[in-house]
Amino acid sequence: MKVLVTGVAGFIGSHLAERLLREGFQVIGVDSFLDYYSRKIKENNLKGLVNKNGFSFIEGSIFELDLMGILKRVDTVFHQAAIPGVRASWGKEFYRYIENNILATQVLLESCKDVKINKFIYASSSSVYGDADALPIKETTNTQPVSPYGVSKLAGEHLATLYFKGYGIPTVSLRYFTVYGPRQRPDMGFHKFISAILLGKEIEIYGSGDQTRDFTFIDDVVEANLQAFVKGKGGEIYNVGGGSRISLTETIKIIEEIAGRKANLKYTEAQKGDAKHTYADISKARRDFSYNPKVDIYEGLKRHYDWLKENLDIYR
Ligand SMILES: NC(=O)c1ccc[n+]([C@@H]2O[C@H](COP(=O)([O-])OP(=O)(O)OC[C@H]3O[C@@H](n4cnc5c(N)ncnc54)[C@H](O)[C@@H]3O)[C@@H](O)[C@H]2O)c1
Repeated sequence: MKVLVTGVAGFIGSHLAERLLREGFQVIGVDSFLDYYSRKIKENNLKGLVNKNGFSFIEGSIFELDLMGILKRVDTVFHQAAIPGVRASWGKEFYRYIENNILATQVLLESCKDVKINKFIYASSSSVYGDADALPIKETTNTQPVSPYGVSKLAGEHLATLYFKGYGIPTVSLRYFTVYGPRQRPDMGFHKFISAILLGKEIEIYGSGDQTRDFTFIDDVVEANLQAFVKGKGGEIYNVGGGSRISLTETIKIIEEIAGRKANLKYTEAQKGDAKHTYADISKARRDFSYNPKVDIYEGLKRHYDWLKENLDIYR
């Protein structure tokens, strides 16, 4: 079985591709090394893939590639490519979100019309919900993003569902809830918190620290992709969360315990675009493809911490 992973040099795409290779898939990986964060970090993400049997890498943007040529060689698409990040999506940068999150998804789906694709997994986001009216959040909860990024991910998701309805492409959208673990993007909370504690620097907390998140360990997200590939239903949307909810303040206490030292906290203003609370109801994914997150926050943070401690130089 041959698959395409877009955004393969990113945090999630690289883990997913490694797992697919281990499972015996042949993987074509595509990435444009978008400068949202450094190429050096992305090249490091690819280290476990390059020169591996069954893996081929194509550098380039979805817009410049011979998509038909690539899609004819694969059965399944795992579309992870996007420009992520909530806070950077305000202002004039938004055109990059339109381009890489909406337009690139449309271009890819459009090309899938003319080839046989068994499954098209779209990496969506909990940010489509914004500040949900009630917790835990079900897939039927109103989508009311509070960031331009959330708007762009929701548009991509709508496109995926449209191409299922219009052309029968079996698209499955997975709404990831804050993913963490080794190789997490450098702009994300746990990466920043752990780096700061390792380097003895201040940890900046946006708002009171009482905001809660459903954090999902990377291995569980990868597992969800594989399960959705087998059993996810075409045209459907699924929450992919970690199964629990915890405040930022509590996560810092866990990191302090793992590190064996106190964090130096600096409280600053809450950021525009950050949802106050997230917590996924994962019963639909559990029902349809037996999704069952296995890594709890303590174990996940320990694995994240240990990895970053060994690999901090990559980010300096
Ligand atoms: N990390 C999270 O917590 C999280 C949560 C919800 C959803 N997501 C979604 O999961 C996916 C992966 O996120 P991530 O954290 O690994 O981000 P990432 O930035 O590490 O990876 C995305 C990769 O896509 C590539 N890319 C972007 N536009 C491209 C294009 N037009 N053509 C080819 N490559 C392109 C980038 O260069 C990057 O390497 C994204 O779609 C993101 O919106 C992530």
